Amino acid sequence: MSPPPLPILLPLLLLFLISTTTTEAASASPTATLPPSPSPTSSPTVPSTKTPSPTTSPTPPTTKTPFPSINSTLSPKQLIALQSLDIPTSKDPCIQPSPHNATICDSSSPFRLLISLHLSNCSSDLSLSYTALKSLSTLQSLSFTNCPVTPIRFPLDLASSLHSFTCIHSLKHLTGVGLSRFVNLTDLTVSNVPVNTSGLYAVLGNMRKLRSVTISNANVTGYIPKHLLPSLTHIDFSGNRLKGNIPSSVTLLENLESLNLYSNALTGAIPDNFGDLISLKNVSLGSNSLSGAIPDSMSAIPELAYVDMSSNQLNGTVPKFFAEMKKLKVPES
Ligand SMILES: *[C@@H]1O[C@H](CO)[C@@H](O)[C@H](O)[C@H]1NC(C)=O
Ligand SMILES: *[C@@H]1O[C@H](CO)[C@@H](O)[C@H](O)[C@H]1NC(C)=O
Ligand SMILES: *[C@@H]1O[C@H](CO)[C@@H](O)[C@H](O)[C@H]1NC(C)=O
Ligand SMILES: *[C@@H]1O[C@H](CO)[C@@H](O)[C@H](O)[C@H]1NC(C)=O
Ligand SMILES: *[C@@H]1O[C@H](CO)[C@@H](O)[C@H](O)[C@H]1NC(C)=O
Ligand SMILES: *[C@@H]1O[C@H](CO)[C@@H](O)[C@H](O)[C@H]1NC(C)=O
Ligand SMILES: *[C@@H]1O[C@H](CO)[C@@H](O)[C@H](O)[C@H]1NC(C)=O
Ligand SMILES: *[C@@H]1O[C@H](CO)[C@@H](O)[C@H](O)[C@H]1NC(C)=O
Repeated sequence: MSPPPLPILLPLLLLFLISTTTTEAASASPTATLPPSPSPTSSPTVPSTKTPSPTTSPTPPTTKTPFPSINSTLSPKQLIALQSLDIPTSKDPCIQPSPHNATICDSSSPFRLLISLHLSNCSSDLSLSYTALKSLSTLQSLSFTNCPVTPIRFPLDLASSLHSFTCIHSLKHLTGVGLSRFVNLTDLTVSNVPVNTSGLYAVLGNMRKLRSVTISNANVTGYIPKHLLPSLTHIDFSGNRLKGNIPSSVTLLENLESLNLYSNALTGAIPDNFGDLISLKNVSLGSNSLSGAIPDSMSAIPELAYVDMSSNQLNGTVPKFFAEMKKLKVPES
């Protein structure tokens, strides 16, 4: 008995995969990180007295300068910037863990400097000021979650100091030109916010250190760039309006652990040598207009744990190797 045709079996297979392998996949690949889910927030209890006391804060200034809190170890300028962003500063923001992990400081003296700032659930009347952002140019990590405040142009100092930038359902809209100034990023996450850009290359072309990129549900058009950094481990371009083929150069990304191109307008065949992606654990090409067969070369990917090819125009039969792969469970046929 020959296997049933792909269009019939594939949806079954994939439903099964989706419902059975996700937990396995999660435990099988603990390092795989796709879009950060909003941080699991426990109650915002503030630690009582455990200060990791840095080299004693010097005697507080006795001038009349209206410092917001003379006891803080944080740079006064940055303390004022935090207040303008509605971050509570009645307790020293440098004491860990800060409420909601919103702030992390370095150990400079006499004043400590912010290296990480996470804004979430901002009030709608919050407004970003250029001056405040400029004084935060020591940040390596900046993230916005549910902060639909009006975006402004980021000071260049801040843009180039960031290693990680996250914007989830925040800042109303972004531009590719604005994002492309974040040249030192290793991690970029933009999700559920429209990005006005001529294409992904205009956003990513200048980022030479990027390892993980998510630009999802961002209304991005154009093509998947032919030149992507070989250092990339995670790519999520799902929920956009990308068109054209999956370039065969994608198969050069030998460090790539997850590739999510779900829900775009991609056409053409999946590259034959897709199996060259030897680090791949998680791949979703679902909800596109891809055609042709699932490449046999995929059987060579040792740790593949999650595959979604549903809702395409793929033909042929379900490759036999899906049944033989250790980490994939498929129904007996
Ligand atoms: C794999 O990707 C799917 C969707 O693209 C996601 O739901 C799932 O959590 C991912 N699993 C891992 C282990 O990354
Ligand atoms: C500063 O610290 C002193 C003693 O540690 C305390 O009495 C005072 O209330 C603190 N001031 C502020 C503004 O937190
Ligand atoms: C803060 O971060 C630490 C370490 O990353 C984590 O263990 C903790 O759960 C976080 N707390 C909150 C409230 O998110
Ligand atoms: C933000 O709001 C969401 C939904 O109301 C809530 O689950 C989450 O804990 C909030 N996060 C913070 C850091 O306040
Ligand atoms: C960021 O990149 C610029 C230009 O590429 C470089 O001159 C600078 O040293 C980098 N800054 C950091 C903090 O890595
Ligand atoms: C998506 O982009 C198109 C133009 O490319 C624009 O007309 C439309 O308003 C955008 N949608 C959103 C939600 O930004
Ligand atoms: C997108 O950018 C182009 C070129 O910079 C501009 O003409 C257009 O108005 C922008 N569209 C939106 C929705 O911001
Ligand atoms: C699958 O589709 C491709 C073009 O999309 C076609 O060339 C090929 O013959 C088809 N194969 C089968 C088995 O239907």
